[in-house]
Amino acid sequence: MNNSTPPVITIDGPGGSGKGTVSRILAKQLGWHFLDSGALYRLVALSARNHAIPLYNEPALETLAAYLDVQFETDHDMQGRIILEGEDVTGALRDESCGNDASRVAVLPGVRRALLRRQREFLIPPGLVADGRDMGTVIFPTAKLKIFLTASAEERANRRYKQLKDKGLDVNLADLLNDIRERDARDSTRSVAPMQAAPDAILVETTGVSIDAVIQRIVELWQRAV
Ligand code: DC
Repeated sequence: MNNSTPPVITIDGPGGSGKGTVSRILAKQLGWHFLDSGALYRLVALSARNHAIPLYNEPALETLAAYLDVQFETDHDMQGRIILEGEDVTGALRDESCGNDASRVAVLPGVRRALLRRQREFLIPPGLVADGRDMGTVIFPTAKLKIFLTASAEERANRRYKQLKDKGLDVNLADLLNDIRERDARDSTRSVAPMQAAPDAILVETTGVSIDAVIQRIVELWQRAV
């Protein structure tokens, strides 16, 4: 990437660290585009389910990921609908089961390879906020500002519990905490692009910190970086 490449801020971290919310609001504030890379892995998992492809069939999943028929409808809140193969899957994508399946397809090098170019295509003017696990390490390694958000597993389980309860879902906090720990372990120990902070990433702890304060800190870091 050279000087004429639009700017990108990468925001990596584990599930429930606040990445999604922080990245969306930040992109809106800056007037930039937003990449929710986790949604791509979730889409592959959902499409695999629709086509009855087992999550161990790497060649079939790689092809699926390469030819994923998806449209992201953006609105001014960066919360637009996601259409997979003609169907609105915005709600289905957020299911816990879809997130768990996404974590399983994400260990497959073929799937990651197929999604690489698709993710880089999101980098268009005036700029991009990219949310994921390997944004700063693999997808946009030359980003000027790389953030790695952290929060304790207990805090992340509590956040998810509240979100799901607010949606009227019947959830169990202990199960959520287990899921989070399992997913963290799988995401950080896989051999390809494991979840880890880039050596030049800035760690931002979010336990007990408001979303607004986290965004404020990132904006200050960006102003200092340019
Ligand atoms: O951020 P999320 O919960 O929507 O991500 C779902 C899964 O996708 C997550 O468990 C790991 C995987 N993922 C990944 O491996 N790399 C990314 N850049 C984003 C998500």
